[in-house]
Amino acid sequence: MIIGTGSCAPDKVLTNSDLEKMVDTSDEWIKERTGIERRHILETEKTNSDLGACAAERAIEDAGLKAKDIDCILVATITPDSFFPSTACGVQAKIGAKDAAAMDVSAACSGFLYGMTLADALIRSGQYRNVLVIGSEVLSRFTDWEDRTTCVLFGDGAGAAVMTESDGTRGLLSSFIKSDGRLGRLLYLPGGGSTHPATHETVDQHLHTIRMEGREVFKHAVRTMVDAAVHGLEKGEVHSDDIDLLITHQANMRIIDAVRERLKLPEEKVFINLQEFGNTSAASIPLALDQARREGRIRPGDKVLLVAFGGGFTWASGVVQF
Ligand code: ACO
Repeated sequence: MIIGTGSCAPDKVLTNSDLEKMVDTSDEWIKERTGIERRHILETEKTNSDLGACAAERAIEDAGLKAKDIDCILVATITPDSFFPSTACGVQAKIGAKDAAAMDVSAACSGFLYGMTLADALIRSGQYRNVLVIGSEVLSRFTDWEDRTTCVLFGDGAGAAVMTESDGTRGLLSSFIKSDGRLGRLLYLPGGGSTHPATHETVDQHLHTIRMEGREVFKHAVRTMVDAAVHGLEKGEVHSDDIDLLITHQANMRIIDAVRERLKLPEEKVFINLQEFGNTSAASIPLALDQARREGRIRPGDKVLLVAFGGGFTWASGVVQF
């Protein structure tokens, strides 16, 4: 079960009007097509693990624990500090969780739910007592700021949750994670790995920034998020009427609306903060979850449905009872 949450967003804000000065776009187009109004951008001197550590410290405090109580740290990210050491090791050092295991999880925007699923399994198997799951992204460093079809979408941020053994009433009632690697090239970052190691040419060809076939991704996002939600509810033996709050990956208002309509949920049961943060990939769900808890949108006993979709493709859901 989740016993604490925390989140952290950089102070620097980039508005739609700021973007109007950078590429051929408009505040009206961005708001109408995505729902995004602004996004937060990490200061150049800071790294992903700084942001993750900030969210982690807030989650640990919220859980009433100390860093030394954390047994394992999972960081979901596609924008790590470096290939290795992992961003999770960076967080481990920064928060001083000296006895914790640490590793990264790569499942793009579904990463946090993949991390929660792994954490739950590690706890149920008796391996660990307190597992810290973090979603942390610095997408601004991998965005092509000359490409209007992607640069208006992404932002930076981090969210975290401390998970521990269920007390019998609260906990992760179900989780569902899936992938289809055949669709990987619809949304990816081509350069920097062993396929296209960094060269002057890969830099000149803009291979180190995110590429996306937006329209295709949109269609798959709606279909797979509905699929994940339905399977998650079935696995948890929960009816959609019993869901108190839906938190989806915050990518596009029209995708969120389509998922809500297919699940026949009223608007007031959906939490949305993408107007403020844009698409923060793996950070989007924990950032929203923490904000929803702090705003009192989640009360003890509430059932919350979490649903995500991302590059890979990957998709996932979780039903959490608070
Ligand atoms: N400003 C103005 N015009 C633009 C912009 C922009 N920023 N971007 C594209 N356009 C233009 C296009 O060039 C196109 O013009 P044309 O008709 O003359 O060719 C027109 O707007 C429509 O473009 P579409 O791509 O069809 O726009 P669409 O309505 O599909 O919206 C968007 C694009 C917002 C990217 C949408 O497809 C989307 O949200 N896709 C899903 C993204 C997503 O969910 N990603 C999730 C995972 S992210 C991850 O894993 C890291």
